[in-house]
Amino acid sequence: MSILDDMATAVSERAGSEAPSRTAAAIALDDRYAAHNYSPLPVVATTADGAWITDVEGRRFLDCLAAYSAVNFGHRNPEIIAAAHAQLDAVTLVSRAFHSDRLGPFCAALAELCGKDMVLPMNSGAEAVESGLKVARKWGTDVKGVPAGEGNVIVARNNFHGRTTTIISFSDDETARRGFGPYTPGFRSVPFGDADAMAAAIDDHTVAVLIEPIQGEAGIVVPPQDYLPRVRRLCSERNVLMIADEIQSGLARTGRTFACDHWGVVPDVYLLGKALGGGVVPLSAVVADRDVLGVLHPGEHGSTFGGNPLAAAIGTTVVEMLRRGEYQSRATELGARLHARLHGLIGHGVLAVRGLGLWAGVDVDPAIGSGKHVSLRLAARGVLVKDTHGSTLRFAPPLVITEEEIDWVVDQFAAVLAEGHVTSAPA
Ligand SMILES: Cc1ncc(COP(=O)(O)O)c(C=O)c1O
Repeated sequence: MSILDDMATAVSERAGSEAPSRTAAAIALDDRYAAHNYSPLPVVATTADGAWITDVEGRRFLDCLAAYSAVNFGHRNPEIIAAAHAQLDAVTLVSRAFHSDRLGPFCAALAELCGKDMVLPMNSGAEAVESGLKVARKWGTDVKGVPAGEGNVIVARNNFHGRTTTIISFSDDETARRGFGPYTPGFRSVPFGDADAMAAAIDDHTVAVLIEPIQGEAGIVVPPQDYLPRVRRLCSERNVLMIADEIQSGLARTGRTFACDHWGVVPDVYLLGKALGGGVVPLSAVVADRDVLGVLHPGEHGSTFGGNPLAAAIGTTVVEMLRRGEYQSRATELGARLHARLHGLIGHGVLAVRGLGLWAGVDVDPAIGSGKHVSLRLAARGVLVKDTHGSTLRFAPPLVITEEEIDWVVDQFAAVLAEGHVTSAPA
């Protein structure tokens, strides 16, 4: 008997019910032993395939969050799983103390995809952001000539770049910040989408601008048309690195390889993560030219797992899949369908729809209920989404979703909205 079965029996006995609920048992175990730093929906996944997740009760759900875009290519994508299996049978980890025959091919393929010279492989998205900031500061002192310790970085209001101490230091989210000080200095925050404010904030000690081309956690906020080209020009004119955090927006989600591509903008530094690991391993990267990444020398930065053979083999496969362009095309075509259908709900419980490709932020009329309540109603109908702020929902299904499935998802959403005011989970 597993601990889950024991727990299921205990939970049902306490509730006086006959049939032990595996869902309740799993949640009770999480509650008791896992730190409470998330507030998940009461769905306990046990298997997944393509766009679908199956829970411990055998119920199927269409996954419209795709692990915050880490599962862009679908759960257990066969090509990625085959690459992972092959590498599991060869070598998984040697650390960077030795070379592996997987690192070079991965870095070469990713650098070429990005049109850059070099790759710094890391693991989580937050690590890529931290690493990008370290590289920018070092570039500031070594190349730009900013006095050591005096470089500043411009960031955008309502940003989300991760959860480390430095990153939360320039977040506006009080829940993410409160109690975690002292904070890292050296950041200036300006409104997202306002290139004039950014120009005014840049001074001789500015080493970088760090932005999400489309703000994800803020509710899929697409900037004005001229914003990214103006930021690009500003950075070139003022000798400042433009760092694009494409950890959530990149790798086909918006219909292009990078969200920046929609505006013909090439940043100095790409930060990548999530889908780069194919939904199998954490794999992130800082990608830039030699005059930027070349500022790092042995001992100045590192990670035990960064660029490990298993991750590199999977990352190489992901890059190959992106080079074919089919996932970008799917996101464009199916995204048009998703946006058209969601726009049709404006005035029927939806206030606004934003986004690009298979990525939509939907503002639900607060009179209907909070994002969390609507998410619970959708889960009861077999659709998994996540609220971002207040009454905003994010639809970001795996890019393998079909047109029929998109229609079905939106039909479920329309049905929830038609129920009117929702305040609690369905019975
Ligand atoms: C734009 C962006 N940057 C960085 C991160 C942090 O990535 P991770 O959770 O892998 O540390 C996220 C995560 O949601 C993100 O959306």
